[in-house]
Amino acid sequence: MTTAQILIVDDEAAIQATLKKTLSLEGYQVDVAGGVSLAKKRLESRQYDLALLDVSLPDGNGIELLEELRKSPNSCPVIMMSGHGSIDTAVRATQLGALDFLEKPLNTDRLLLVISNALRLQQAEDETRELRRAAGYFDELLGDSPPMVALREQVLRASGASASVLIGGERGTGKELVARAIHRASPRAKAPMEKLNCAAVPKDLIESELFGHEAGAFTGATKRRKGRFERAHGGTLFLDEVGEMPMEMQTKLLRVLQEKEIERVGGHETQKVDVRVVAATNRDLLAACQQGSFRPDLYDRLNVLPIALPPLRARREDIAELAEHFLKRARIENGRPNIEFSGEAMAALQRHSFPGNVRELQNLIERLVILGINDALSADDVQQALGLGSSPALQGLYRPGVPFRILVEDAERTILGECLSHHGGKMTDTARALGLERSHLYKKTRALGLREPAKNDSDN
Ligand SMILES: Nc1ncnc2c1ncn2[C@@H]1O[C@H](COP(=O)(O)OP(=O)(O)OP(=O)(O)O)[C@@H](O)[C@H]1O
Ligand SMILES: [Mg+2]
Repeated sequence: MTTAQILIVDDEAAIQATLKKTLSLEGYQVDVAGGVSLAKKRLESRQYDLALLDVSLPDGNGIELLEELRKSPNSCPVIMMSGHGSIDTAVRATQLGALDFLEKPLNTDRLLLVISNALRLQQAEDETRELRRAAGYFDELLGDSPPMVALREQVLRASGASASVLIGGERGTGKELVARAIHRASPRAKAPMEKLNCAAVPKDLIESELFGHEAGAFTGATKRRKGRFERAHGGTLFLDEVGEMPMEMQTKLLRVLQEKEIERVGGHETQKVDVRVVAATNRDLLAACQQGSFRPDLYDRLNVLPIALPPLRARREDIAELAEHFLKRARIENGRPNIEFSGEAMAALQRHSFPGNVRELQNLIERLVILGINDALSADDVQQALGLGSSPALQGLYRPGVPFRILVEDAERTILGECLSHHGGKMTDTARALGLERSHLYKKTRALGLREPAKNDSDN
């Protein structure tokens, strides 16, 4: 751990001096403030790891300072001290989140113990948060560019409402991430969010996927099955790639959104459902309406709260933060803890136009970490990785002297690898997207070395 920064807030010169000396000897960096206003100034100007606050100060009260500090973005762990501490004040301090309450005169051993415990606790919490973030458990919307700040604001507002949301944006801009964020921040977060990818489900199965079916409703419907609407009851239904929904399904969906009740395929009863719909598309739905491939009345129903995701090239300021975020994750996943961007590598990233947006950046960084020979990634590494990733370029597939069979296998490996990573490694989705039998996809990926032969074939 780097040297901990501690702020002492006490007006008594003798105490200031003793504490400063004792703590500095222990290797801590110590700042001193003799009153509330100076303490506030110090706390605003830097991030302390710990503050020791006296209760009675010449220009105010340590308890009030504690209260204010807890709400501030620069908050840090606090230990209170007092020469004439009443039980009441001690209780109040603990309620406000102080870690401990020390009586003066201070016992040095106890003081040092309390401090080192507090710092250790804080460090453990930071590490856990950092690890989880790096492992991707926190799939939050990163980026501090003006469009992203505005977007988070919109997400927050949308999550408080229950009207339909239509998320637009190019591929890989974070539409699904936004849909999940809206659900998670909404009062519906305890109920499930169900997702249906309208492009991935065969046309004649969409209805039963959405509304469920009764046993015997059609060939293959051996058992009664709940649809996404039913499973999302009380929660959110995410209709991904809604622009691909066939016309007659659009009509049925519109009716369900108006009536708020569904009927299973092959069923005779309707049932009420309480579902909030969030839809996403990378198509221009207004244009689709004009061309007659999307129902304008459904568009109006879905587009109550429109959210448009900006492409990454329109907010290049975010590239560095996103790149560092994906790098952290890739480091852990690939066991390359020391790999780092050089300045020129980062500059090269910031110049790229990213037609595949954030997903392209993420895949690019994974490739860089896997392929990078040195721990310091160079601009050349970035250029090379960009070249590798720039399929559909078919150039470069032919290599003189390499047998046709191998060349084809390489191409297959690239296609399947990209499609798998696009679908988060999910075999079912990948098979659907490519129009392959699942069993065939399993065999293929194994034969091409994309999966280990012994790996358990359980999906998702
Ligand atoms: N602002 C962001 N902060 C952090 N990660 C992001 C951000 N935007 C996108 N991502 C990540 O980029 C990847 C692509 O995002 P997502 O799947 O949500 O995009 P999409 O718009 O749904 O793409 P597609 O149109 O291809 O389905 C995901 O791994 C997601 O976590
Ligand atoms: Mg998506």
